[in-house]
Amino acid sequence: MVKHEIKKIGIFSELSDDEVKKLSLYIKEQHVDKNTELFHQDDPGDAMYLILKGGVRIYLYSPAGRELTLAVLRTGQFFGEMSLLDGMPRSANAMTIEDTDFIVLKRNDFLNVLQSYPVIATKILKDMSIRVREADAMIEDFALLNVYDRLTKYIDKLMKAEGKKEGYCTVISGNIKRQDIANAIGTTRETVSRILSAWQRKGYIKLLPSKMIMYRDILLNRLKK
Ligand code: CMP
Repeated sequence: MVKHEIKKIGIFSELSDDEVKKLSLYIKEQHVDKNTELFHQDDPGDAMYLILKGGVRIYLYSPAGRELTLAVLRTGQFFGEMSLLDGMPRSANAMTIEDTDFIVLKRNDFLNVLQSYPVIATKILKDMSIRVREADAMIEDFALLNVYDRLTKYIDKLMKAEGKKEGYCTVISGNIKRQDIANAIGTTRETVSRILSAWQRKGYIKLLPSKMIMYRDILLNRLKK
């Protein structure tokens, strides 16, 4: 594996060339096709994954089979570290959402890397703190907001991350799947479709075949009501 590829991973980005060379002895590369389940919640954890290129969804199932997305992780991010650290089973399911290239670190190698490279251990702790904050925010939203407000926040976040400003509105191109939105905000696809249609009738958003247009101020104002 070429050196600059290892440095694409956030937690490895500050290593010296010598350290990267040593680290590459521990590392195995793996390609996984889109929509492949990498592991299930409650499986024993034997390895950590670092994404060289692609994307992975971390999610839970409800007893009725509904999915809740905890996070979507992309190039440069890692996952699967929790069960290696606490010895418990996997805390969630993981599935590729694109063709994805990984670096895989087996449990003992991961623990060796943590001990040998304090800079990596510190970065992992930092990323885990960010994830706890995001999980706290998610708990707050589930406890305090209704589904309309959660959907408003979700669309606003999506528009900020991927939208393009056009005058008074923000436009997001591509097919935004109602099921993906539902899994992220803890509701059903039917509820998302029903609310989006109602908002279109009220003029908050406009839905086109491969585009969503958001009138940001109007939509966000409904959060304050
Ligand atoms: P592990 O429990 O080994 O397997 C599932 C992985 O999903 C877990 O390690 C973390 O890497 C990741 N994960 C679990 N919960 C979250 C979350 N709330 N946000 C981001 N990643 C998570």
